[in-house]
Amino acid sequence: MSSDNILVIGANGQIGAVLTEALREAYGADRVLATDIRAAEAPAGPFEILDACNGAALDEVVRRWRITQIYHLAAILSARGEENPMWAWDVNMTSWLNVLKVSRERSITKVYYPSSIAVFGPDAPKENTPQDAALVPTTVYGISKVAGENWANYYYHKYGLDVRSLRYPGIIGYQSEPGGGTTDYAVHIYHYAVQGKPYECFLQADTALPMLYMPDAIRATLELMNAPAEKISVRTSYNLAGMTFTPAQVAASIQKYLPEFQVSYRPDYRQNIANSWPKSIDDSCARRDWGWKHQYDLDDMTRDMLQHLGERYGRKEIS
Ligand code: NAD
Ligand code: SER
Repeated sequence: MSSDNILVIGANGQIGAVLTEALREAYGADRVLATDIRAAEAPAGPFEILDACNGAALDEVVRRWRITQIYHLAAILSARGEENPMWAWDVNMTSWLNVLKVSRERSITKVYYPSSIAVFGPDAPKENTPQDAALVPTTVYGISKVAGENWANYYYHKYGLDVRSLRYPGIIGYQSEPGGGTTDYAVHIYHYAVQGKPYECFLQADTALPMLYMPDAIRATLELMNAPAEKISVRTSYNLAGMTFTPAQVAASIQKYLPEFQVSYRPDYRQNIANSWPKSIDDSCARRDWGWKHQYDLDDMTRDMLQHLGERYGRKEIS
């Protein structure tokens, strides 16, 4: 049994809610402290309100709970970030620098930092974007993730802090709500379909983006964090891929089960963000270094999403 005490920051978010549950299964519920700036509805284990931008409060939690590992998931995502860029920069950088500082001072053994495909901008190759493509993003969110990756690399080389990171594509899951990203349509569309409602998509029908199903995202995170340190050759952040699809393709995948489902398209400011990102990602470094392999493709994911959301919305004929 591990003697690690784990702190999850941003545990009420789309990924944090599911990752916290997975960590509790792996380490024991009492060893995983979930924290967020927002109150939790029905916490299934220890929970505290924590603003990660408050360095003293973060330090006090780490000390009091004898924390040994930190998963830092709090951030303002791409679409919300463009609505208030200075706020997004402040939250994303202040919270991350606080986590790095407390990790060094309190001898934290491992830190997880999620980066994003948003680190890439229009000048990176669109197809199979390589690990070492240019990082010149056009969103404040992307700029904050590029800076965050570099701070991770800096703390690893300068202080020996074992920081590990993945550039997640858009994450899709049935368990939690997305928090203001450009890829959120790919979650919303399933909820509308299962409720029998038409969906108006904020991206054009043919906008291809890299995506990953939640179980794959959680497994990738745990596999990276459990890999032997000598296998981790990338100390900024690993490219990570699963599938690529467009809104029209996800609609067609849903229509295989729900033929009456209707989608219309009204692109807004998020179209420009999507246009600046890769269409597909080369994640061969992750595959080579620690054996990453995705499991879910579009139709596998659709089947699973519809089954779980069918149960939630009481549509037994789907589930
Ligand atoms: P989310 O917006 O759903 O959740 C973020 C959580 O952080 C929220 O619960 C929010 O209340 C909390 N938070 C915000 N400010 C805080 C603060 N100052 N202190 C403490 N908590 C605070 O985001 P998510 O989708 O779960 O993403 C988690 C991480 O993964 C983020 O770093 C994000 O950039 C990254 N990521 C997500 C995706 C995706 O598709 N969801 C893709 C790439 C990267
Ligand atoms: N899914 C995220 C977003 O759309 C990418 O990091 O913001």
